[in-house]
This record gives sequence, C-alpha cells and structure tokens, in this order.
Amino acid sequence: MPIALVTGVTGQDGSYLADQLLAEGWEVHGLVRSLIVEGEQEVRSEVTRHVGDLVDEDRLIGLVSDLSPDVVFNLAGISSVAFSWKEPVKTGVISGVAVATLLKACWQLRESRGKEVRMVQASSSEMFGHPTAELQSEMTPLAPVSPYGAAKVFGHQLVAIYRERGLHASSVILFNHESPRRPTTFVTRKITSEVAKISLGLSQSLSLGTLDAARDWGWAPDYVDAMVRVAQAPAAKDYVVATGIAHTVREFVNASFEAVGITDWEHLVSLDPEFARPTEVTVMRGDSSRIRTELGWHPTKSLDEIVALMTAHDLSLLV
Ligand code: GDD
Repeated sequence: MPIALVTGVTGQDGSYLADQLLAEGWEVHGLVRSLIVEGEQEVRSEVTRHVGDLVDEDRLIGLVSDLSPDVVFNLAGISSVAFSWKEPVKTGVISGVAVATLLKACWQLRESRGKEVRMVQASSSEMFGHPTAELQSEMTPLAPVSPYGAAKVFGHQLVAIYRERGLHASSVILFNHESPRRPTTFVTRKITSEVAKISLGLSQSLSLGTLDAARDWGWAPDYVDAMVRVAQAPAAKDYVVATGIAHTVREFVNASFEAVGITDWEHLVSLDPEFARPTEVTVMRGDSSRIRTELGWHPTKSLDEIVALMTAHDLSLLV
C-alpha cells in the first residue's frame, strides 16, 4: 500500500486528494495545524492526522522520517491572493520558505535510507503575473505581481533545484479550480453563496471588487487527479493544469443567477473597492498540452456545470 503525506489536507484540494488516494488504496497521512480548526473541511476518518507547523523544521523532518512516505503532496500555505497583500511576511514564510523544509526532509530521507520519496508541489498560475501571451505554459517566464505569487515562485524554483539534484520533485502549476468545498473568501463561492441567498430573499445584493477579471476556472477534483498522475509519472517535471478557457467574473455571476432563474441581475450587484486588488491580473488562461499528451489528463466539467453544481449546493444548505 503506497503511503502519502498531504500537507493542507483540510483544504479544498487536500480533502479531495485524500478522497481519491483512499479510494485508490493509499495509506493517507495529513499534516494539520490543530485537530479542530473551524471553517476547514472535515478530514475523512481514515486519514491519520499529525499536528504540526509547516515552519517547524525539526517536526517536519522527524515526521517525514517516521512515515517514510512514497509521496509528499504539498498543498498547504496561504492560498488567498487577497490575504497575501495583508500578510506578505506570513505568506512568504508559509507558502514559500516552508517548501524548503519539505524538500530538505525528503532529501534527508533519501540520503539516509535510500528511500525514493517523491514530492508534488502545488504551484500557481499567479506566478506568471500579467499575461504576456494568450496562453501560459511551463515555458512562460515567471513574473508575479502579488506577494502570494512571489512566495509561490520561490517554492516552485526550489522544487526545480532539488529535481536537478536528483529528487523526483514535480510542480503542478494550477490555474483556478473550484467546487462546493471552496471557502467564500474566493470569488466563485462568494458569488454562488450570495446568489443562493438572494434567490431566497435572504440577501439584497452582492458586492465584488471587479467584474472584468477573467480566469481559467476548472473543477477541483480534476486538479487533484492531475496531482496523482504527476506523482506517478516516470519523470519529474512541471505541469500546467488548466482548461484553456477563460471566463470573466461577470460571466460567472451571470451563470450563477441563471442557475436560480434570475436573468435581470445587474441591479443586484455592486462594486466595492474593499474587494479590489492593489494589482490585478486581468486574464489567466493555461496551456495544459503537456499533461494532456504525456499523462492523459483532461478537464471533465465546463464552467456552466461547475457554477450549476456550486449554486445548487449553496441552495441546498439554505433550504
Ligand atoms: N476573492 C475575491 N473576492 N475575488 C474577487 C472579488 C471578491 O469580492 N471580486 C472580484 N474578484 C476577482 C479577483 O480580483 C480575481 O481577479 C478573481 O476574482 C479571482 O479571485 P479569487 O477567487 O480570490 O482567486 P485568485 O485568482 O486570486 O487565486 C486563486 O487561484 C490561484 C490560481 O490561479 C487561488 O486559489 C490561489 O490559491 C491559486 O493559486
């Protein structure tokens, strides 16, 4: 039975990843900050939870040594670009520097016991910054425009450095990926939860930072499936994971209102500078040809399907 250590196991991606790995017969261990944290996903009882901090080097090295995992999936960190503007130092440490600790722990396990441990790092399309080409690929230069993006670049480049050194370490460059498990701090779930409330007369309006930004939104379970494929690939590499189609926030809002039968929604939505970013990436669109061709991955849901599922889920929480 292969053994996985998943950091960030209580997040959207970590919880879906644990579901998939357990279904495929893996032994799954999760790193958690504490055994009870409000607002995070329930972790399946088959996941063995280990309390620890990503920046506690001794703890992480000890844990990796004790578990001797086949794969370490690093999904932990600050995942909100908006939050990274408020806490740039914390973001740099947790989403950037902590990657070094995990790589060091994997390397030590390999050196001391000859264990061929693999690592998969959750990198981000936010590393590309303002688009310089229509589609971003593994070859696109990294030029982040947020503290979050800069932290992710540090982790991403360290993974490449350890790969060069001989570790089977890969990065999945994830474009936006959504689901009913997304927290409402992200725009998609904020929209679907508010639209569900508006449709039932429980809220009067939805306030957003912009309607014009465009994102390449995919279905989160597809993206964790990509991580498992990358972990099992013969060679370690970077892989862009994206649908290749971008939609604006406006289109997402429209689809969500459509899902509850409201067509005339403009008067229900307002713009609030509180939710706008100091620098905004206008459009993101990924070229996932490499993972499609080499590992047979492909996205399974359209934006309309994702929005319909998320909106229906939010409605079900209210009725
Ligand atoms: N959160 C939020 N709240 N975003 C808003 C709002 C709002 O009220 N109004 C407009 N937006 C815009 C943001 O400015 C951005 O252009 C877009 O909606 C998406 O924002 P988020 O959902 O917060 O996601 P993100 O693109 O910043 O980051 C997500 O995707 C990255 C991959 O590209 C996160 O999941 C990151 O962790 C991930 O790396």
